[in-house]
Amino acid sequence: MAETDGKNGAPASTGTPAASNGGNGKGKITALLEGGKIVRARAAEELKALKQPEKTDLWKSVLRVKHDETPRSRALGVLSNVFLHLHPAKINRDAVAYNYTWGMGGMTFYVYITLVFTGTLLMFYYHPSKVVAFRDILYLEHDVPFGKLLRNMHRWGAHLMVIMVELHMFRVFLTGSYKPPRQFNWVVGVLLLVLTLLLSFTGYLLPDDQLGFWAVTVGTNMARATPLLGHDGPFGHILGMTPFNDVRFGLLGGSIVDANALLRAYIWHCVAIPIIASTFMVVHFWRVRKDGGISGPAPVMLESEIKGPRKI
Ligand code: HEM
Repeated sequence: MAETDGKNGAPASTGTPAASNGGNGKGKITALLEGGKIVRARAAEELKALKQPEKTDLWKSVLRVKHDETPRSRALGVLSNVFLHLHPAKINRDAVAYNYTWGMGGMTFYVYITLVFTGTLLMFYYHPSKVVAFRDILYLEHDVPFGKLLRNMHRWGAHLMVIMVELHMFRVFLTGSYKPPRQFNWVVGVLLLVLTLLLSFTGYLLPDDQLGFWAVTVGTNMARATPLLGHDGPFGHILGMTPFNDVRFGLLGGSIVDANALLRAYIWHCVAIPIIASTFMVVHFWRVRKDGGISGPAPVMLESEIKGPRKI
């Protein structure tokens, strides 16, 4: 106590202020009591703020709009949030109903994200080389903790994505959502379907097992018969196609399914196609928004909302 007093300019003393310093001590006590009052008042202020946290600056800087149920606040809540503003402020409830969309587009996207995640983890254990590729798969299956789960999540996810994208396309067809103004998005969708199939196909070779090897042998043999670009295809000879310069050769990086084919499949599968597919998905979602949201049935109107004919 005595040292604190010294700091404030008053001489530091050893005993209690009242006992050692007479009148001067009284002044100090009054000052201390005053100080106490101020601290108590501030504490009361802060306590008030705690009881109404929505009045604090901290609260207002995180939640910038009112959270009541009025249409204005709800729209503002969406528009002023960095993540939510990607969505429209208002949507037609009937258009997003599961029994209309089957949720297939959204679920396809969700599975795609899962595939990117598990695929990235698989890349930590896999080398795209003829010598070790299959050994890496055995190592993953039998020694890596949760390796089997990881590999199967990726493999089954890939099958699921193909099924889902087809169901999604089927739903779009059934609901006639390919018609104007959504015809452009249908075309983007077709490209996404092709990219999904290409992802599956290129991934098939990567384990370098018999199944993948022969699947890719058969698949790339079909490329030989491509019109103009394949050496076995119609008009291929016009462009001078041979087994050593045609489209199949380009796909395999050689004339047989071997080390170069494995490396090419790896780069297409892990880098090029995911980048192209992700870009098209962004365009696809942007188009859904620009074409007036999901097509959907007309919103149900209450009788009270229907306006009668205008009286002239
Ligand atoms: C990777 C593949 C795909 C993803 C992630 C995807 C995602 C989506 C999502 C989330 C929607 C919003 C409505 C809904 O969920 O049903 C949608 C709508 C749409 N998609 Fe896809 N889609 C894909 C492939 C396709 C394919 C293959 C087609 C057709 C060839 C297609 C055509 C359309 C069309 C026309 C719409 C608008 C439908 C409407 O407004 O009702 N999409 N897509």
